[in-house]
Amino acid sequence: MITYLQKTGPRVRAGLGDVALLRLDFNTKDDWRMMAVIPTITYLLQMGKTIVIVSHRGRPSGGSLTKGVPTGFSADLHLKRDAAKLAARITRPVRFIDHFRWDEIRATVRGAPRGSIFLLDNLRFLPGEATNDRGLARSLASLADFYVNDAFAVSHRANASVVAITEFLPSYAGLELAREIGALGKVMTRPAHPLVLVLGGAKASDKLGVIARFRRRADRVLLGGGSANSVLALRGVDVRRSLRESDPAVLRVLRPLARDPKVLAPEDLVWGSGARKDMALDIGPKTSRRFGAEIARARTIIWSGPLGMIEKDAYAKGSIAVAHAIGRNRKAFSLTGGGETVMFLKQHRLDKAFSFISTGGGAMLDFLAGEKLPGIEALSRKRRK
Ligand code: 3PG
Repeated sequence: MITYLQKTGPRVRAGLGDVALLRLDFNTKDDWRMMAVIPTITYLLQMGKTIVIVSHRGRPSGGSLTKGVPTGFSADLHLKRDAAKLAARITRPVRFIDHFRWDEIRATVRGAPRGSIFLLDNLRFLPGEATNDRGLARSLASLADFYVNDAFAVSHRANASVVAITEFLPSYAGLELAREIGALGKVMTRPAHPLVLVLGGAKASDKLGVIARFRRRADRVLLGGGSANSVLALRGVDVRRSLRESDPAVLRVLRPLARDPKVLAPEDLVWGSGARKDMALDIGPKTSRRFGAEIARARTIIWSGPLGMIEKDAYAKGSIAVAHAIGRNRKAFSLTGGGETVMFLKQHRLDKAFSFISTGGGAMLDFLAGEKLPGIEALSRKRRK
């Protein structure tokens, strides 16, 4: 069973020790994932704990450690700026540690006044992070008295600071992780109907699990982007040079969608120009209206992936119209996630249209596909002594 940090009783809390190792996910261009976990940081501070924050960014390669200092990695993969950003957000100092000399870090953390906050550099500079190395987990564990996972977005990865760490410290789910499990769990186990699934994005291949899980459960599936083009092509429509799937394994999953009358592919498309001539880049106005009508009737709405090439305003209209329609339906529980979609919604001030925005991209898709996430599973496992 998962122990939720917020639900621990006073006796457990008193016995936790002074230092929390807090796993967060700062792997976004903007700071919305950081903002989502501020309640957890505040909560730990109210408990009087010192916090050692660990995170990753990107998938670093090419660099190495020189006397414990990461060198030769791309500058934008370091987390120093995140320490400054977080400090500004919570109006408290956040001390960035630019090396991985564990004994030194331990001494610094233990010597600091209670309530201090530290941020280590990108854990993926260490080869053991991605390989779920127990030695690295043990070093991380030596810095703290208990562990809190508030990094839902990376909980689908068996990384040392997500999975192996739970073998060495009493482990808890943070406040945001608890919200994620609650909201995503709700649409998995007891969604109100009609349930409308909106699927977009360039590729259908990363959503096959969600399609398999929800094809029968959803009352309507509304398609845009690459999935729509692929289904239209399977229905015999000429989609010209539009992005679509050709992998036979992917087409096998999409074929039942193409035959299913509750699956709506676009009735009209917005075509590109110039080099993108002959490519469908957005759903058309008629489709937006039809999708809007379906959304208005829904009681649960799950949206994954933009419906057009949203980087260009000319092809963002369909996604904007659908987001507005979701916002107008006050009776439905609506959720979305994924870095690109969330940044787009924030940019257009449409994020408030949703009941819940997941901080996860791949993690949300895995959860919605019914897969077990290693980071969440690890929180339920008994710790080895
Ligand atoms: C994400 O942004 O989806 C997470 O941080 C996981 O990143 P990864 O796909 O590089 O493991």
